[in-house]
Amino acid sequence: MNKGAALTEHTDRAERRATGTDGAAAVRLEAASLAFGDRTLWRDLDLEVAPGEFVAVLGPNGSGKTSLMRVLLGRLALSSGHAHIAGAPVRAGNHDIGYVPQQKTIDAGVQLRGVDLVGLGVDGHRWGLGLRGRAERKRKVAAAIADVGAEAFAHHALESLSGGEQQRLRVAQALVGDPKVLLCDEPLLSLDLANQRLVSELIEQRRRAHGTAVLFVTHEINPILPLVDRVLYLVDGRFRIGPPDEVMTSEVLSELYGTEVDVLRLRGRLVVVGTGDTMDALGAAGAQHCHADTDPNRVRA
Ligand SMILES: Nc1ncnc2c1ncn2[C@@H]1O[C@H](COP(=O)(O)OP(=O)(O)OP(=O)(O)O)[C@@H](O)[C@H]1O
Ligand SMILES: [Mg+2]
Repeated sequence: MNKGAALTEHTDRAERRATGTDGAAAVRLEAASLAFGDRTLWRDLDLEVAPGEFVAVLGPNGSGKTSLMRVLLGRLALSSGHAHIAGAPVRAGNHDIGYVPQQKTIDAGVQLRGVDLVGLGVDGHRWGLGLRGRAERKRKVAAAIADVGAEAFAHHALESLSGGEQQRLRVAQALVGDPKVLLCDEPLLSLDLANQRLVSELIEQRRRAHGTAVLFVTHEINPILPLVDRVLYLVDGRFRIGPPDEVMTSEVLSELYGTEVDVLRLRGRLVVVGTGDTMDALGAAGAQHCHADTDPNRVRA
């Protein structure tokens, strides 16, 4: 296929996805509620994510961000309401979803290499196990590894790689199956600024080139702020959805946390500040936001 044809095919696909051939949202939650025993994580959540849309999911520890990912992955049932991916009810093993799980350290002694991890992302896919299928699988894995610039270390044992190198391979694994929806659970955790930028850019490129919808769980919105279309902010059973400018305000966050919170804007960065007990209420979200203090880009007020 020549370059022009490839480009046309990409553009067509992006357009098809942007408009949605069947008019289906990439992600749709209707009156969705999730409770464990008598504890409700969120209730009556309505959310429609369009193809190519970037939604940041924020909230303190235990607010139900990872649980939301698990619902969309078909691994956890809603207490009530409905959840759809690309027009179909959620189900386990859905190849329309790419998933970057919340970081866990690789167990020492597991001799998995980067190339094996990425390969797991295509297992069970449509190419089958024949010779042709195997060649196609190999080609896809190599392309995904090249896309994240991981060729130099993809054949090393994962446990010997740095956090940033492992995270690039996790992103490759999530993208290798060409998903319509990308779920990322704190993918920037413990990465330095350069790797935060690199991983964010990889995800952003995919979204732009393929119209992939992105749900991105994070405690720190600043590294991705320019990419975010809407924020879903979960706190203790309450939530708000809207563009960052509407949700990340002192008024909205004070209401969500039920205590006084200030949101400051410093040269395009957001700093969320609470005092005394408020800091406890903010939990990790507050701690992370306030880690902006140690960021070398921070404006010294
Ligand atoms: N299967 C389960 N049974 C009972 N409680 C659960 C189950 N799964 C999660 N929980 C609880 O639900 C709450 C939300 O968990 P979840 O992992 O979704 O939080 P989170 O927002 O991702 O937090 P963090 O920022 O710490 O990652 C937690 O208090 C957790 O202990
Ligand atoms: Mg979590």
